Formats: sequence, C-alpha cells, structure tokens
Amino acid sequence: MPKRVSLIVVGLLLAMQFVPLDRSNPPVGEIVDAPPEVLAVLERACYDCHSHQTVWPWYAWVAPISFLVVHDVQEAREHLNFNDWGKYTPEKRRKKIDEILEEVEEGEMPLFYYLPLHPEADLSAEDRLAIEEWVSAVNAGS
Ligand code: HEC
Repeated sequence: MPKRVSLIVVGLLLAMQFVPLDRSNPPVGEIVDAPPEVLAVLERACYDCHSHQTVWPWYAWVAPISFLVVHDVQEAREHLNFNDWGKYTPEKRRKKIDEILEEVEEGEMPLFYYLPLHPEADLSAEDRLAIEEWVSAVNAGS
C-alpha cells in the first residue's frame, strides 16, 4: 500500500475508536422462570447477548469489531431478554419459548461466530434436551 493510503487507514482506525457506544448493563428485572438446569444453560450460552448481564469482552472496546458486538447485544436484547421476563405477557413468553426451541434445534443460536471465543456456549446434546423438555413442559401446562 502506498504510504499515504496506509496513513489514511491508520487515521480512520484511530478515529473509529472514539465513536461512542453504549456498553451498559441495565438493572436486572424479573428473570426467566426456567428450571435451574435450563437456566444454567441459558446463562452459559445466551446471557452475553440476551440479558443485562453481558460480560463485555476486550474486543468490545476495539473498533470496528466493537460495532458488531454492541449491535448484536442491543438487537439480541430487543428480541429476547431473559432479564426482562416480567415485561412479557404470558402469550409473548410462550411465543419466545417456542422460538428458543426452534433456534436451538436448528443450531441458529448461539450465533456461530460467537462460539470460537466462547467454546463453553457450544450446546451439548444434554443442553438441547434440557431446553426441549422445558419447552414441552411449558406447552403441556398451557
Ligand atoms: C453473540 C450474541 C448472541 C448469543 C450468544 C445468542 N444470541 Fe440469540 N440472537 C442474537 C441476535 C443478534 C438476535 C437477533 C437477530 C437474529 O435473529 O439473528 C438473536 C435472536 C434470537 C432469537 C429470536 C427472537 C425473536 O424474537 O425473533 C431467539 C429465540 C434467540 N436468539 C435465542 C437464543 C438462545 C436460546 C441463545 C443461547 C442458546 C442465544 N440466542 C444466544 C444474538 C445472540
């Protein structure tokens, strides 16, 4: 790369670091009423995005990766927040629970690019079974 282009790239990368991003963890509300073994799976594999208890990794402070991380967490919390369960109507809770099963069975969640740096979030057959049993029990009771 010509020197001038390199300088522009470095300058842009530096400037990006100053873009303000919201990495707050708001107070935890009513948490999802799942049995302890399911809650453990959700906490391990989903809470970084779908809760107010995000453990922000160091690269959440390094632009442009931080843009992706912060955007994912914001969007994930909007779609499904295990720490805001109290704000959901019973119908919405049931709908979310069905969606969880669907995402987990299809292997869509957790997002694949999250896994290499969070291998503990890779769901085992046992984890999936716990979620499936939870969803069936909720649906049987309603
Ligand atoms: C790295 C962040 C991340 C992790 C970890 C993650 N998700 Fe998500 N999830 C997202 C984002 C972003 C969306 C919204 C965009 C989309 O649907 O792809 C989403 C959407 C969803 C939806 C759809 C909700 C709706 O209303 O459409 C469900 C259900 C879901 N996730 C369940 C889970 C479950 C269960 C886990 C853990 C096993 C999990 N996710 C882990 C980021 C994440």
